[in-house]
Amino acid sequence: MKRYHPVLVGLHWLLAVMILMSLFVGSQALAETPNDDPRKIELLRAHMTAGGMILVLMLIRLATRLMTPLPPPVSTGHPLAVRLARPLHWMLYALVIAMALTGMAMASAASLPEIVFGEGLAVLPRDFSHLPERTLHGLIAPLLVLLILVHVGAALFHHFIRRDGLLQRMWFGED
Ligand code: HEM
Ligand code: HEM
Repeated sequence: MKRYHPVLVGLHWLLAVMILMSLFVGSQALAETPNDDPRKIELLRAHMTAGGMILVLMLIRLATRLMTPLPPPVSTGHPLAVRLARPLHWMLYALVIAMALTGMAMASAASLPEIVFGEGLAVLPRDFSHLPERTLHGLIAPLLVLLILVHVGAALFHHFIRRDGLLQRMWFGED
């Protein structure tokens, strides 16, 4: 077993694109658009749909991860980095799932499913800042960004400095 299961590989890259886009659109477009702007409903619809899909795909990925054999740990030469790799991978799962769940909790507290996907009669609240779920969603986002930066940094370190072929473990191939 030299690489991750092809389902894990395919979903890893699809989810990476979807998560980075949600982080970007969420912070740069959604949060910057006031709730009385007519484009807000459209942005919410897209963000909530993408967020819900991320949750479903991430749970499928988690189940696959628990059911398939893993490639052995790769050494960086730093014992601490070897020890940290697995816990940091689990934290990526935890923070992505926490983002999606706080988003859904916020949406349900503000009746967004009815407003955004309904007949178009109900109006949005002035903003979401009074909701604790909104605060959590906004706090977890930069933590996830930070962890992704560490993750990508580690992957690039392996690829360009250690030249140990780590990226190939997250790509399709024999075995
Ligand atoms: C943006 C969101 C991303 C998330 C949430 C994410 C998540 C993960 C997780 C959880 C693992 C552990 C393997 C598993 O449990 O299946 C993993 C492995 C990996 N990721 Fe990512 N990843 C992201 C982006 C990236 C990017 C942009 C790169 C490349 C620069 C990358 C490169 C890798 C590599 C090479 C591995 C395999 C590590 C190993 O062989 O142990 N990831 N990723
Ligand atoms: C992993 C999936 C998700 C990511 C990465 C994500 C990311 C973000 C980000 C970065 C923001 C802006 C935070 C800020 O600037 O303080 C945001 C806001 C928001 N997100 Fe998400 N989100 C996700 C899932 C969801 C889901 C599933 C829902 C609802 C069903 C949702 C609903 C919202 C709402 C209502 C806002 C607030 C917009 C505003 O304040 O006007 N999100 N999201």
